[in-house]
Amino acid sequence: MSPLAHPIETPAPLVSGEVGIRAIRIRDARTLQRLLTENRTWLEQWEATYPGGGGAVPGSTPMRPVIRALQRQQRDGAGITFVITYRGQVVGQLSLSDVSGGALRSASVGYWVSQEVAGRGITPVAVALAIDYAMTSLRLHRIEICIRPENTASLRVVEKLGMRPEGRRLAYIHIAGAWRDHDSFAVTSEEIPDGMLARLGAAPLREGAGTVQ
Ligand SMILES: CC(C)(COP(=O)(O)OP(=O)(O)OC[C@H]1O[C@@H](n2cnc3c(N)ncnc32)[C@H](O)[C@@H]1OP(=O)(O)O)[C@@H](O)C(=O)NCCC(=O)NCCS
Repeated sequence: MSPLAHPIETPAPLVSGEVGIRAIRIRDARTLQRLLTENRTWLEQWEATYPGGGGAVPGSTPMRPVIRALQRQQRDGAGITFVITYRGQVVGQLSLSDVSGGALRSASVGYWVSQEVAGRGITPVAVALAIDYAMTSLRLHRIEICIRPENTASLRVVEKLGMRPEGRRLAYIHIAGAWRDHDSFAVTSEEIPDGMLARLGAAPLREGAGTVQ
């Protein structure tokens, strides 16, 4: 399926309580590089790798070209990457990727937060903000999240969001050096007529609220 037929406009920061998401910027490069390096052990077991060998060791790739490539995807209508903020500080990343237009109108969500802030319920709120944005502003119909069965923390995120299990994809993505099974979870717009934030019981959306660093 092909991406949206138009560039994805950069939205204002989206905030619920102490958690926010805002489109990634070149000036996030240094902070993200630091977070990725500090959290290398925390993240690398879940990090995508290249089947031919090598791959992304978190923090080892210069972030400015990475961010430029992500912004190109946004202009191409194929995805949008956000930083996750907590109490105004950048603490992680969330991507809406594989955005498809046409008769599919879907996207996949991926995410990480720094170990220091794990367990505070930040990611479920960030994902809910992204899903509501995708379904309202981008008029997407279906959002999917694929998770390794071993990733109990991430499985709790989709459980909290009440996302529907759709089954296991065998040897689906090359992660940490090998092809790994993934469980797929999805939600369609009909399932959440009032939005995901409301289903989660999170604080209502504040669009463009405050100064989000
Ligand atoms: C998966 C992840 C994004 C969850 O984010 P989060 O903001 O911590 O989400 P939550 O606060 O809702 O916590 C989810 C679960 O993580 C587990 N958890 C809580 N604190 C934790 C900690 N300090 N360390 C590890 N896991 C913890 C708990 O099982 C928790 O469920 P609970 O709230 O029922 O106890 C985060 O653990 C992470 O970035 N992990 C590494 C990267 C990754 O796995 N990305 C997803 C790939 S699919």
